[in-house]
Amino acid sequence: MFQLRCTVRNCNSTLKPQDNELVCSSGHHFDRAKEGYWSLIQPQDRKSTKPGDTDTAVLARHRWLERGYAHELIKFLDPWTTKALARSKSHEPRILDLGCGEGSFGPALFGTHPNGYCGIDLSKRAVRLAARSWPEATWVLANADRILPIHDESIDCAISLFGRRPVAEIARVSKPGAMCIIAVPAEDDLIELREKTQKTGHRRSRWETIVDEFNTAGLQFQEHQLWKQQLNLDRDAITDALAMTYRAVRYSQQARLESVTNMQVTLAADVLLFQRAK
Ligand SMILES: C[S@@+](CC[C@H](N)C(=O)[O-])C[C@H]1O[C@@H](n2cnc3c(N)ncnc32)[C@H](O)[C@@H]1O
Ligand SMILES: [Zn+2]
Repeated sequence: MFQLRCTVRNCNSTLKPQDNELVCSSGHHFDRAKEGYWSLIQPQDRKSTKPGDTDTAVLARHRWLERGYAHELIKFLDPWTTKALARSKSHEPRILDLGCGEGSFGPALFGTHPNGYCGIDLSKRAVRLAARSWPEATWVLANADRILPIHDESIDCAISLFGRRPVAEIARVSKPGAMCIIAVPAEDDLIELREKTQKTGHRRSRWETIVDEFNTAGLQFQEHQLWKQQLNLDRDAITDALAMTYRAVRYSQQARLESVTNMQVTLAADVLLFQRAK
């Protein structure tokens, strides 16, 4: 399995699997949840201004992905992950998925590397679903905005798909020359939905700010591409899109959509590739 390190304060020793536990050389141990994930979260890390997605949002995203709505994005990302792994010299590359969610992307993009893949999320509901769907991989309940349970310079490829981007920690855990793939919603992602709910569809592009942030941390910008798809949503899919989106939509705003039975929407993501300085 993917090698993790102990999260007891100042310990940081390697965790070794032993029966149904992970144990470090100082005797700290962590049980495996019955669904198959590891909870490495410490009480002080539970508190977060962003406690992970709510169950409602996680389940809405799960239904959304089950409808196959990420199919095109996965096809688009596939050559990116292949390229990232090809640059790694390891025969078993180590892949870290930050804010992995309910776990659809991991097996779709890295299915041939169950021993090298680790997904981290702060939502218990999300890691439970993820661990059930791909039990061979490593799934961790942890706060990606704190210190990651991972040794320095041990990762070949980090990925964050609409998830957390703890840039200093990504730089710390990445091997020199390791790749990092980031996807964020592009400015016209679900713009039609936002135009209906918020009157004026607010467009904003974040990717250039991310490039500056990552470059400063020693993760050198390699490539940017805009991915786009048009999709026709039925009533249930509209409801899920509203529930899973980060752009908080109030009930009064949702009411404006109640009579809409289907809708053509744009899905759009800015996808970025970085390389940790060698
Ligand atoms: C928009 S979802 C994307 C999930 C997945 N990557 C996907 O594309 O389906 C963002 C995820 O980040 C997780 N998250 C939010 N804050 C987090 C944190 N501090 N540490 C780890 N995960 C976090 C949420 O629980 C949620 O599953
Ligand atoms: Zn320990």
